[in-house]
Amino acid sequence: AALWLLLLFSAHLLLRRASAIDRGQFPPPTSFLFGTSTSAYQIEGGYLEGKKGLSNWDVYTHKQGTIEDGSNGDIAADHYHRYMEDIELMHSLGVNSYRFPPGHCSKPYGNCAFGNSSIEPYIVGHNMILSHANAVSIYRNNYQETQGGYIGIAVAARWYEPLRNTTVDQLAVERAISFNVPWFLDPIILGDYPAEMRKILGPTLPEFTLKQKKKLHATKLDFIGLNHYSTWYLKDCIFSSCEMDPMDGDARALSLAERDGVPIGKQTGAPFFYDVPHGMEKVVMYYKQRYNNTPTYITENGYAQASNSSMTAKDFTGDTERIDYISGYLTYLVSAMRKGADVRGYFVWSILDDFEWTSGYKDRFGLYHVDFKTQKRTPKLSAEWFREFLKGSLVSR
Ligand code: NOJ
Repeated sequence: AALWLLLLFSAHLLLRRASAIDRGQFPPPTSFLFGTSTSAYQIEGGYLEGKKGLSNWDVYTHKQGTIEDGSNGDIAADHYHRYMEDIELMHSLGVNSYRFPPGHCSKPYGNCAFGNSSIEPYIVGHNMILSHANAVSIYRNNYQETQGGYIGIAVAARWYEPLRNTTVDQLAVERAISFNVPWFLDPIILGDYPAEMRKILGPTLPEFTLKQKKKLHATKLDFIGLNHYSTWYLKDCIFSSCEMDPMDGDARALSLAERDGVPIGKQTGAPFFYDVPHGMEKVVMYYKQRYNNTPTYITENGYAQASNSSMTAKDFTGDTERIDYISGYLTYLVSAMRKGADVRGYFVWSILDDFEWTSGYKDRFGLYHVDFKTQKRTPKLSAEWFREFLKGSLVSR
């Protein structure tokens, strides 16, 4: 009994340790969405079921040598068959919403993820933006009135800080930002691609006709979705000498995690993400200003644990780093909201461990551990923490 008491007490302390933030600091459940997010290919499986066609990821993952652990998403977390059970897990956490986008790019967009010419991504991006405008106009004309849905776009929103306190590095930050969210949202909200992109890419960047610009403008997004995980330092590679490939900024940023030997944040289990909570406030405030405070949802934010095949559920359930990460990012999200940002929801990536693209199954982002052999779901400490947080019962430190 004493051992049980001790264990319970330690679990209680662990749940409270990262509780500088609590639910009460956010608007009430009727006006603020808290949820978890997933994406079709990453959790569903059901490879050839339900008359489904092949996505480009189905094709790509079946090629040898493409995925680090040789896996694919044929079964993934089998959400296709277990979605009711998984929704029950979400319900038990107390979330009031679920973000689940459909599978990535299909035939109409062409070979979007794996093109290797430098012009291809911009043509694909252009066609995605135009497809978006068409889809929105079809929805607004035919379904809006009866269904009353809201339409927005979710974009990966990285944050960057200049490596050195110099104008050239600050300009590099602005260039990199323009190739990130504004690549997709500027044409829709502001009418055209960012000037920085046009300057760097010249004729490689497609043009919108006047008619297309009008159509884009008429789509009027109801909200924007930001998927935010990490911040990187950025170093100029255009005006100063640079050992890295001067692409569009992103490529150079990813390897820059330290300034004068001091890391930008704690390394997470995924080598490409750092725990930099203040980046959340910066990114939200930046887009608040750029897009005139369009209602915003944080459609993804989460923490990966690294794994190897010999590890079991027990090795993942004491995930205090994930609790620190989520509570830290939420703290800075609230701070942005107090400064006026119209944020209406927050979604943890992800409810379950899932297929993390070219890393396969080794980066585990779930609040629930998934044993991919048995498909057993086991709650991690972070699931308990999130449940307590949503109840509003965590007390500030
Ligand atoms: C953003 C992507 O949308 C999602 O698919 C991915 O799993 C997470 N980042 C984590 O890397």
